[in-house]
Amino acid sequence: MNVAVVGTGYVGLVTGVSLSDIGHTVTCIDIDNEKILKMQQGISPIYEPGLSGMMIKNINEGRLYFTSDHKQGFESAEVIYIAVGTPEREDGSANLSFVEQVAKDIASHAIRDTVVVTKSTVPVGTNDKIQSIIDKNLMYPVNIEVISNPEFLKEGSAIYDSFNGDRIVIGSNSEEAASTIEEINKPFGVPVFKTDIKSAEMIKYASNAFLATKISFINEISNICERLGANVEDVANGMGLDKRIGDKFLNAGIGYGGSCFPKDTKALIQIAGNVEYDFELLKGVVRVNQKQQGLLLEKLSERIPDLKGKRIAVLGLAFKPNTDDMREAASLVVTEELINVGVEVVAYDPIAMDNARRILNDKVQYADSVEEAVSGSDATLILTEWDEVRNVNIGVFKSMNYPLIIDGRNCFALEQMKDNNIEYHSVGRPSVSSKNGHVLLS
Ligand code: UDX
Repeated sequence: MNVAVVGTGYVGLVTGVSLSDIGHTVTCIDIDNEKILKMQQGISPIYEPGLSGMMIKNINEGRLYFTSDHKQGFESAEVIYIAVGTPEREDGSANLSFVEQVAKDIASHAIRDTVVVTKSTVPVGTNDKIQSIIDKNLMYPVNIEVISNPEFLKEGSAIYDSFNGDRIVIGSNSEEAASTIEEINKPFGVPVFKTDIKSAEMIKYASNAFLATKISFINEISNICERLGANVEDVANGMGLDKRIGDKFLNAGIGYGGSCFPKDTKALIQIAGNVEYDFELLKGVVRVNQKQQGLLLEKLSERIPDLKGKRIAVLGLAFKPNTDDMREAASLVVTEELINVGVEVVAYDPIAMDNARRILNDKVQYADSVEEAVSGSDATLILTEWDEVRNVNIGVFKSMNYPLIIDGRNCFALEQMKDNNIEYHSVGRPSVSSKNGHVLLS
């Protein structure tokens, strides 16, 4: 089929590239001309394992195109995906101006019956709104059917997820349009769940809110474990054996970040509020997440009461491993707090350094390796559980002024730290003191 995808962020680009890979002819549209020129050469604007290779293959095989011209992009499209951003407004609600603009563009250019698929995460009721914007502004006498098809891909494994997802959700008022989209997706071999539009919109928010709840829940349990001397990893493993609970998304840490959970949880609170429902549980989830991001610095300050002028290594800046995405990364909160108390921050991330530089500028120093970051530091903070950090030669920590690690991601086994005489504080697990005991640094 001929497909157009509007918006080439994570969702749009991965959708377009993977649809071309299963045989559709896809034109990706974006208003950013510079980005389009790069993508036409197979250069991906984002770091996503497997994406560039798949782009180049499908461009060369004549199935994947990029343009900034909507008219040209829509010309032969039988299906148009909307995958533009829905950024968070100050009050937590989703800003829908990009989505609404695309609806108007579609109405101006559609010259044949088209199925419009909303991939962007939009509040319940938005697809009906998109339908009415299109119907009101149509230039030609064609039939446009809007359906909801929320995206569940995870950054860092987005291509893998496209082919191995748990489900494809299709929300539609038209059996025919739903079947068209089911057919388009068939080669992915992912189970399809069909429902009405509003329920599909809600499935996306409810899923992300539930996963965020799991994370905040285990983070609270971890804080209690620390006080009681229990080990949250064992607790999570033991809980996860119960199939009703499941063993995924129970890693305690420094809180969730990224482009979805923080935004979607706040948006769902807002959506509930709009129908006069107080989503108390989710409000707690958001509060716990904010608290969790601050705990690392609390632990550091307990060990080094006067942080001014201290050199602190920060390992990992991306909001999670295998991505260069810094959106809502806990590292931004932590580094900002460190800078505010006069710390000299030396940061290292295997992939996200360029994006980090754009945000943090010269407020922190950037190292080229774990070794360089930790050398001569008074403490090391671990913010992202990159394999490069997990598998580092523990000997590198000997080059610190004093071997103190505060690990927000539980990267190391407690025994390993004990054996290497490193003072080690992690999340929800007993602390390991160095042989010399807790030497207060000041
Ligand atoms: C998420 C959803 O998983 C995905 O389905 C949706 O489409 C978009 O939002 P993503 O933002 O890519 O995907 O990241 P995810 O892997 O879900 O992690 C989100 C955050 O939660 C990260 O900051 C991660 O570090 C944190 N997390 C995750 C935990 O702290 N503990 C866990 O056990 C799992």
